[in-house]
Order: sequence, then C-alpha cells, then structure tokens
Amino acid sequence: MAAMSSTARRSNPVAALWDRLPTVSPRVFRVLTLISLVFLGLIVVTGGAVRLTGSGLGCPTWPQCGDGSFTPHSEYALHGAVEFGNRMVSILMGVFMLVTPLAALRLADRRARRDLVWLSFGLWAGFVSQAVLGGITVLTDLHPATVAAHFLLSMLLLVDGVVLYRRARQGAGPVTVSVRRELLWLARVLVVVAAGVLVLGTVVTGTGPHSGDDEKAKRFGFDIVNVAQLHADSAMLVTGLAVAMAFAVRIAKASQEARRWADVLVVTIVAQAAVGFTQYFLGIPAGLVALHVTGATLMWIAALRLWLALPDRPSLITPALASAVVDVGAVIDTHDADSASTVVDAVDHPVSAAPSRVVTAQLTD
Ligand code: HEM
Repeated sequence: MAAMSSTARRSNPVAALWDRLPTVSPRVFRVLTLISLVFLGLIVVTGGAVRLTGSGLGCPTWPQCGDGSFTPHSEYALHGAVEFGNRMVSILMGVFMLVTPLAALRLADRRARRDLVWLSFGLWAGFVSQAVLGGITVLTDLHPATVAAHFLLSMLLLVDGVVLYRRARQGAGPVTVSVRRELLWLARVLVVVAAGVLVLGTVVTGTGPHSGDDEKAKRFGFDIVNVAQLHADSAMLVTGLAVAMAFAVRIAKASQEARRWADVLVVTIVAQAAVGFTQYFLGIPAGLVALHVTGATLMWIAALRLWLALPDRPSLITPALASAVVDVGAVIDTHDADSASTVVDAVDHPVSAAPSRVVTAQLTD
C-alpha cells in the first residue's frame, strides 16, 4: 500500500478506508497480544475436552457437523455439542487472530516493528493450518498421529504467541544479553527438552485409552508401560534442568523477571509430574488427564517465558531519530517500548503530537 501515489490511494476505496483507520497504540497492541495468548491456551483446553469426553467424532464430518448441516443434530447429543463448542471457540479465535495482524499494521512505529507484524501474521497462518489439520484429524477418524500433530501445532503456535507477547513489551533494538551466554544456552536446552516431554506425552496419549472416539479411533500399538516410562524419564530430566535454572539465575544475578519465571517453572513442573504419576497409577481418569493437559500448556508457557526473560531488546535509536528527538526535546527510556514509540510518533507528527509529550532533551540508556 505504501508504494501507491496519494491520488491513486484516494481513488482506491479500500486504501482510502485503510488510511482512515486509527493508529493502534503500543498499549492496545499489548492487550491484543495478551488476549491472543489466552485464546491459544484456551483452545488447547477445549480441544482436550473434546478428546476426553470421547467427542472427537461428535460432529462426524468437517467443516459440517453431520450430513448437510453446520450445527449438531440431536442424534449427536452431548458429543456433538462439545465438538461443536470447540469449533465455535476456534472460529472466535480465528476472527481474533485476524484482528492482531491488522492492528500490527496500524502501529505508529510499524516500520521499525516488522517483527511484530510477522509474528502476528504467524498467529493467523498457524490458526489456518490448525483448522485444516483439525479437519484432517476428523477425516482420518482421529488417527493418533494427526491428534498428536494437532496438539503439537498448538504448542508451536504458543511459541509464536509468547514471543509476540514478549516482543510487544520490548524495543526494536538488537538483542542484548546481560547474563553469561551459558545461562542462555541452558534455557534453550531446557526448552528443547520440554518440547521432547510434550512429544513423548502425545505418544503416551496415542497409545492410551483416551482416543477421542471409543468405536472408530486407531491406537499407536506401543506398550503403554514402556512409553509412559520414557515420558516420565524425560519429565524427570526437565525437572532437574528447571531446578538447576532456578539456582543458576540467582547465581548469575539474572533479572527479577527471569527469577520469577524460573520459580513458576519449577512449581508447574513438579505439580505436573505429580499429576502425571497419579493419573498413571489411577488408570488414567479423564479428569486428571484434563488437568495434565492444562499443566503441560502452563509449563510450556513458563519455559518459554524463562528463556525470553534472559535476552533484552532496548529501543532502536538511530542517529537520525536521535537528532530528531533532540530537536523536539523528548525523553526516551530505551527499555520502554511505549516511551520510544511515543517519540517515533512525535517525530512523525511533530505539530500534533509533540507539544503535549515533550519534556526535555535527554536520551537515557
Ligand atoms: C514435566 C512433566 C510433564 C509434562 C509437561 C507432561 C506432558 C504431557 C503431555 C503434553 C501429554 C499429552 C497430552 C495430549 O496429547 O493431549 C501427556 C500425556 C500423559 N502423561 Fe505426561 N507430562 C509430564 C509428566 C508425566 C509423568 C511424570 C507421568 C507419569 C507416568 C505422565 C504420564 C502421562 C500419561 C499416562 C499420559 C497419557 C494421558 C492420556 O491417555 O491422554 N506425565 N503428558
């Protein structure tokens, strides 16, 4: 759109409407990233409810829910309602996932924040892929490999959502790491091992009794004791790494945020392992599995947040921007995305924006 001449833009109704849309403030955008994250977590829980109530084929076709209809028939009763409810949450989420990238395109400093634009479109692309994979899952009669892929893609989408959430609260400058590189590597290894625990968990699920449909769905055919053992072993490994991280962030004097997320991670992993063992020895009751799936999602978010709390991204202060800032006399806290984008806004629109925002000529970092 930027390449169009102003006359061409005026005669193009879509471009003219787009230009008239208000600019999105960083604060509003940050709220949007939070809501996206909540949706991404919620969809894992409602997807889990579909499987655990055996409603995976509650709507036996996709995208319709039964022959020739998009809503459940009475013959599909509760299972249809659960699966249909999950589809409704997905649709709501889809609408929202489109709002976030559009908002990113309306950020005042969108030219400097291409990362936010790309990450927001990543949410939308991931959502579309999930909708297609959800359809394939139904069409393959809930083959455990497609059910596992459906869950794991949600975890990948959460990576996008968590990175977006974090980046929206940082500047556009280059990555700075104030702790030792080894600590950052330990956090990365922890995230990889945690991902391995999730993958092995889906193998246990694909082998265990909760297929999503008792009559039709296939199973992996592994020995449940062996795969559960492997999964529990990997859980022990990630528990050890999390405890090591909780000590390491303190010894390395990492930020308060990193320490907090290390503690949250230890608590969620220990609780998660306790639920895992309990459900295994109680014969895998559905209620506890629901708790286990929710715990896995929270643990994943905590592991990602801990990793992302170690590097920082201050605001990008280019020489041109710095001299413009000195001209309008603004204060920038380079660690505060709001302050920096206010200045970008002030430099872009000096007459309308500067007087109320200008304080004194000073650059802080
Ligand atoms: C860090 C700790 C753990 C994490 C993050 C974790 C994560 C997961 C995940 C993601 C699943 C698959 C959920 C799905 O596909 O819907 C799963 C399944 C399972 N996990 Fe864990 N788990 C952990 C610890 C344990 C432990 C210690 C045990 C003990 C044996 C265990 C037992 C199971 C069982 C039995 C299932 C299959 C449940 C089913 O049939 O649906 N987990 N776990």
